Amino acid sequence: MDTVSLVAPPHLEAGTPQLKITSAKALAESSNLTSIPSNYAFTTLTSGDPAVHADLDDSIPVIDFSLLSSSNPDQRSKAVFDLAKACQDWGVFMLINHGVPEGQMKATVDALRGFFDLTEEEKNEFQGKHVLDPIRYGTSFKASVDKVFLWRDFLKMTVHPKFHCPPKPEGLSKVLAEYCGEVQKVARELLKGISESLGLEPGYIHKTMDMDSSLQILAANLYPPCPQPELAMGLPSHSDYGLLTILMQNDIGGLQVHHGGKWVKVDPIPNALVVNNGDQLEIMSNGRYKSVLHRAAVNNKATRISIPFNTGPSSDTVVVPAEQLVDGEHNQATNILMTYKDYMEFKQSRVLDKGSSLNQVKI
Ligand code: OGA
Ligand code: NI
Repeated sequence: MDTVSLVAPPHLEAGTPQLKITSAKALAESSNLTSIPSNYAFTTLTSGDPAVHADLDDSIPVIDFSLLSSSNPDQRSKAVFDLAKACQDWGVFMLINHGVPEGQMKATVDALRGFFDLTEEEKNEFQGKHVLDPIRYGTSFKASVDKVFLWRDFLKMTVHPKFHCPPKPEGLSKVLAEYCGEVQKVARELLKGISESLGLEPGYIHKTMDMDSSLQILAANLYPPCPQPELAMGLPSHSDYGLLTILMQNDIGGLQVHHGGKWVKVDPIPNALVVNNGDQLEIMSNGRYKSVLHRAAVNNKATRISIPFNTGPSSDTVVVPAEQLVDGEHNQATNILMTYKDYMEFKQSRVLDKGSSLNQVKI
């Protein structure tokens, strides 16, 4: 088992009211940086476990959202069938024709980039203390305890049932509220299709998971250029804790998903969203729709921004497998009987260590 290191890493000044954190962005921008500090080097190297491009005959599924929301029953049932296959075989798919306007996607990326461009002092005002704080800016995973650092800065906001956002830079809150409104519509329709694809009532997930109070988190990950991308890690292997994650990114690749025993690169498709199953979907589907392991690699050329929107059930929901999906063979194998809030806290309570992946606690 991991032990928690109580010694502050060298670049953190303990004893001050707020820990002084050097962001990955500040580090990347410091002059003459030709190698990474030793506390950023992983032993589970992406170079030792390289990713491949998808095979032509087995590539990441593409779902056309306009067919899923179509009033033509044939088109819709074909889309529901495709959705079932994507969730079962891959646990991840690209979503096209999702209806989120291109200009709004771009504005969201730009506004979040604006947040990371604030001064270190301004950003540090939003350092959360606790994993469930509604606004949390930071670097790595949990910089105060991580034994090895991720080449990544992040901002996480709870955007539902109550919307939270840093008050600066000006305009950020309006842009994010608008984006969340759009992506919430997409999530709702996808969860309807997913319910149906499991042979359940279209409103099954919405009702049983108390989705009117669902806990939704919008995050932004910033991965600056890294002088030794083969040694550093953006995000190690993990699964997401919620039901579904809907990720938007700029045109710089880095996301990789685990499929068929290999790491497969998710090459960005312009304007498409990337959707993946989370742990709560795995539980409710009784293991039929597994939450997919994924990780983010870094590069030495350009800054990558990814913006995952994670929707879960309500904080107090204890997700259980749908009765209709439980038979002798599966027999509630994925039941964990924990409220969603407790599960999130439990899942985020880990400490990164050199050989770490974050997947040990996947259910
Ligand atoms: C995450 C995540 C992937 C990426 O934030 O949970 O998996 O590409 N991000 O940044
Ligand atoms: Ni993730």
